[in-house]
Amino acid sequence: MNRVLKNLLLLLSLGASWAQAQVSVPIPAFTPYTQQCSVCHLAYPPGLLPAGSWQKLLDDMPQHFTAQVMINVETQQEISQWLQAHAATFPPVAEEPPQHRITQSLWWKKIHLNNSQLPAALWKKPSVAKGSSCVTCHASAAKGEYNAKTVLVPK
Ligand code: HEC
Ligand code: HEC
Repeated sequence: MNRVLKNLLLLLSLGASWAQAQVSVPIPAFTPYTQQCSVCHLAYPPGLLPAGSWQKLLDDMPQHFTAQVMINVETQQEISQWLQAHAATFPPVAEEPPQHRITQSLWWKKIHLNNSQLPAALWKKPSVAKGSSCVTCHASAAKGEYNAKTVLVPK
């Protein structure tokens, strides 16, 4: 199967729309989520992780990678339930990745690593080192838009 077709199947499983070649993973409106979860990085589309990963990620808080995330218990519960309700349900995205990271999931690694557009040396650059900063290359990531055609890889 060629790479374009593979990506297409993946994106369809993400619930992505293909209108005008604009690949988008919807981020439904929910103020507590955008308020609390776009402070240090962009608000990731809930459809990029399965429910189990979101639940564990939120249960681990305030411990959160190298950060401490302080949210009142009620709001944290609300965000957790909302994320689980909008989580990925189709393979391969529905598989729980290591560390509850999108960037550790097999589908993400397949698209981004071993990719001639994205050589290994690129991932060592300080501006790119964090694959988790989707907006570095996907300018409209905050709106849930990930389009291979509009990707801008930093030099
Ligand atoms: C105080 C800062 C801060 C806040 C607030 C915060 N995060 Fe994070 N988040 C981080 C850091 C730091 C990382 C790790 C970044 C890295 O090492 O790539 C991270 C990583 C993540 C990742 C994994 C990204 C990947 O590698 O795929 C997810 C998912 C995530 N955060 C979700 C959330 C959610 C949901 C909320 C709101 C409840 C939230 N974050 C709030 C700091 C924060
Ligand atoms: C260093 C640059 C870079 C970063 C950072 C990055 N991407 Fe990408 N992404 C790309 C490139 C280049 C492509 C096109 C790959 C291809 O089709 O060969 C792509 C493709 C994609 C696609 C498929 C789009 C399509 O039209 O086929 C998705 C979905 C995606 N990225 C999500 C993410 C998410 C989510 C993050 C953050 C957790 C992220 N990307 C971070 C460069 C990046």
